[in-house]
Amino acid sequence: MFTRQRITSSIKTTIGFCIILLSILALTIQWMNISVETGSLEKSNKVNIFPEVSCSIKCPRVSPRKPKFMSSSESCPEYFRWIHEDLRPWKETGITRKMVEKAREVAHFRVVVVNGRVYFEKYKATFQKRDIVTLWGILQLLSFYPGMLPDLDLVFECGDQPVTQRSDYGKSKESVPPPLFHYCGNRSSFDIVFPDWSFWGWPELSIRPWDKLEKDLQHSNEMIKWTEREPYAYWKGNAVLGEARRDLMKCNVSGKQDWNARIYGLQWALERKQGYKTSDLAAQCTHRYKIYVEGLAWSVSQKYILACDSVALLINPHYYDFYTRSLLPTVHYWPINEKDKCKSIKFAVDWGNKNAKKAQEIGKTGSKFVHEELQMKYIYDYMFHLLTEYSKLLKYKPTIPKDAVEVCSDTLICSTKGIRKKFRVHSRINNVSSSEPCTMPPSWSPADLQNFIDRKQNLTKQVELWEAAQSI
Ligand SMILES: *[C@@H]1O[C@H](CO)[C@@H](O)[C@H](O)[C@H]1NC(C)=O
Ligand SMILES: *[C@@H]1O[C@H](CO)[C@@H](O)[C@H](O)[C@H]1NC(C)=O
Ligand SMILES: *[C@@H]1O[C@H](CO)[C@@H](O)[C@H](O)[C@H]1NC(C)=O
Ligand SMILES: *[C@@H]1O[C@H](CO)[C@@H](O)[C@H](O)[C@H]1NC(C)=O
Repeated sequence: MFTRQRITSSIKTTIGFCIILLSILALTIQWMNISVETGSLEKSNKVNIFPEVSCSIKCPRVSPRKPKFMSSSESCPEYFRWIHEDLRPWKETGITRKMVEKAREVAHFRVVVVNGRVYFEKYKATFQKRDIVTLWGILQLLSFYPGMLPDLDLVFECGDQPVTQRSDYGKSKESVPPPLFHYCGNRSSFDIVFPDWSFWGWPELSIRPWDKLEKDLQHSNEMIKWTEREPYAYWKGNAVLGEARRDLMKCNVSGKQDWNARIYGLQWALERKQGYKTSDLAAQCTHRYKIYVEGLAWSVSQKYILACDSVALLINPHYYDFYTRSLLPTVHYWPINEKDKCKSIKFAVDWGNKNAKKAQEIGKTGSKFVHEELQMKYIYDYMFHLLTEYSKLLKYKPTIPKDAVEVCSDTLICSTKGIRKKFRVHSRINNVSSSEPCTMPPSWSPADLQNFIDRKQNLTKQVELWEAAQSI
């Protein structure tokens, strides 16, 4: 969604600057160490190693205690079953420290939980502050379910694309993949998928934390009924990011053609200057159909698009995040043929306008999925279960890394300012959850999983057949 070159050059400058800064820091710390040893300075010697997460505030000394819940648990949504699939590569071998160290080579940061307290170590600069927002999310999880997270040691990669390629790891036990947490995966990856930063807001794009934005989207659904919406397919976004998006531009309406698509480009730099006046997501539930197209990998926009009660037209996605694998064509969304986008979009819109009742139902089902099954309670439950299952696989007792710093919500709030701080304050968990985490569904049997995949394929095939026959 951004101009990469400019970012790269600014990252380079930042890295250069960081090296100078780190050298100064190293000297300071050395001096502080001496001071601490000689007793002339009280302060923690680690305060300034990672200024993005540290300040003069110290985290509470006591380890959190498990709460007493008011209500008992219910079952988790079906998509939690993917947790079992994502962790399957380590089911037999478990996860050793050596494997985590291997994953660390490509990771941006590490999080270690020991006795309910959280330690952070940064390895590489990330785009914007994805790493810190993700860390923020984990800290909120600990506030929501205090004292309940087991000891943990995990490394996280924050880029766009999946990292651990299946082809690099064979079937033999010697080549178990390194366990790496990441925001998305695809058919040929082993990345362990984890909810992305956008659930706690995306300040750089003025996209608010999910629980607030979700309510706005709900409200805007009540404002304009489906039948009163524009009978076209809408898309708005950064058009230059990725091949599929550039290709989609060809489907825009013009004097010569009308594929029923209404497509708008968005330049975030310009938006920023104009105060994000035309990018408000809650003001975009105006069309009966909304197109979803991937950028460089998965896009955080999928939940916003699904949330509108409009029929989501998904251009055949190649990447998944933690919940999207459970979405079904003609149930939650309408599949669009990526090889013939314009024709496929035109058919979808014609079909939906003709079969308005069915189309509305698809729109509603997709929207309901997002508003109900992606509530923040479930996001925390998902994280809770994923991390708990992951910790069961650890073959060693996590210890605090030498260079890690202890972090808590307070240190992440006092080390930032402006809109970032505002978003953190707004998404902060102040109260312990009133109910237990939902109950994890068991893993699929191989046959059931295959059945689910077949069903998904069959439903897509059905649409392709209708499309080929132009049978509306
Ligand atoms: C999965 O993603 C990686 C990294 O982007 C890419 O190299 C690979 O081709 C993708 N695999 C599939 C099946 O799309
Ligand atoms: C698509 O067409 C509409 C109507 O002509 C125009 O306003 C819009 O800017 C076009 N979108 C793009 C990305 O060029
Ligand atoms: C948190 O708990 C307090 C009292 O225990 C209550 O007044 C407040 O509304 C709660 N806040 C939220 C966000 O649930
Ligand atoms: C998928 O379609 C095939 C062929 O039509 C059929 O034999 C199979 O039972 C279907 N599978 C599912 C899960 O619907």
